Amino acid sequence: MEGKDDKPWTVLLTGSTGSLRTYILSSLQALPPTMIRKIYCLNRSEDAKQKQAAALDVRGLPPLEEERIFFIKATFIHFLMPFKEFRQHIKGVRDFLQFSYRSPRHPPFLYISSLRIAYFSNMHHIPEEISYDLLAIAGGYSQSKYVAERMVEAYVRSTGLPAAVMRVGQIAGPPPREWFPTLLRASQHIGALLSTLGRHNDIDWIPVDILSQIIMEIAEYVIGRPARTGASMVFNIANPETVPFESLLPHLTGIALNTVPCGEWVRLLQQSATNRPTAPGTPGLKLLGLYRSAFTPGKSPF
Ligand SMILES: NC(=O)c1ccc[n+]([C@@H]2O[C@H](COP(=O)([O-])OP(=O)(O)OC[C@H]3O[C@@H](n4cnc5c(N)ncnc54)[C@H](OP(=O)(O)O)[C@@H]3O)[C@@H](O)[C@H]2O)c1
Repeated sequence: MEGKDDKPWTVLLTGSTGSLRTYILSSLQALPPTMIRKIYCLNRSEDAKQKQAAALDVRGLPPLEEERIFFIKATFIHFLMPFKEFRQHIKGVRDFLQFSYRSPRHPPFLYISSLRIAYFSNMHHIPEEISYDLLAIAGGYSQSKYVAERMVEAYVRSTGLPAAVMRVGQIAGPPPREWFPTLLRASQHIGALLSTLGRHNDIDWIPVDILSQIIMEIAEYVIGRPARTGASMVFNIANPETVPFESLLPHLTGIALNTVPCGEWVRLLQQSATNRPTAPGTPGLKLLGLYRSAFTPGKSPF
């Protein structure tokens, strides 16, 4: 983000077609041109602009403001890849940090990390600082987030320029609103819900639209702070309330009425790929391997 001295901001947003970042983009374009001059969206796909328009539409969000929003093609990462395949992502973080450094107005760099980096640390309280002793981080995704956090920290310490890390907990969809049936119709479903999440049953998910508002507030706070604070700002964004997964089920009847045990749900998910090989993918299929191990007793890495 760029913008000091009451001049409007220019924002660079990576992966804008994602669920959370669609909400962030919507919040950004809702700000007046006196605050946000331009928004550059970096995405991997050629048709990112069309995808973005559809992503806003299906969520009942206002359409793209084309005069201020520009799409640029760029390459990124994937949740389940091994660490070495996150090299591009790490390099991307370095490039954006350099970009902030070399820009005359040194725009603050805001990085979305994950609370998952502390998952294996057995810490009950995760400090809002870049920790140097998180040695047991499993999975390329968490490792790449951790390395990126440390790069942000090194950047701030060596330059005195502003940057922030926002560690996010598990993201959930938005609370149901009048446009929710449209969103449901646009997604693929396997026709069944899990009856329980097993050892993950106490859920503390954050609705994506609320999370996006929190991130916008943090962004404004970071931009408003004077530079040269000497340490990166770290924010853990978690839902302090947990509820049992079952309490959510009555609100999900628009997706499916029947519930099935974990093993059966994974089988149905797998079957959905076999039955509809040419149909647009069921989103959950991307994480099939993860669900298999998460719901197999004694095998779960999570
Ligand atoms: N989900 C959670 O519960 C959770 C928890 C903690 C932190 N986070 C973090 O919160 C952020 C969530 O952001 P989000 O919901 O907006 O996005 P997202 O679902 O993480 O990612 C979607 C965006 O990334 C692009 N993308 C996905 N795989 C890619 C690949 N292999 N190569 C290049 N681009 C790829 C997508 O492009 P296409 O449109 O082309 O597919 C889309 O623009 C992420 O930084 C995530 O790590 C998430």
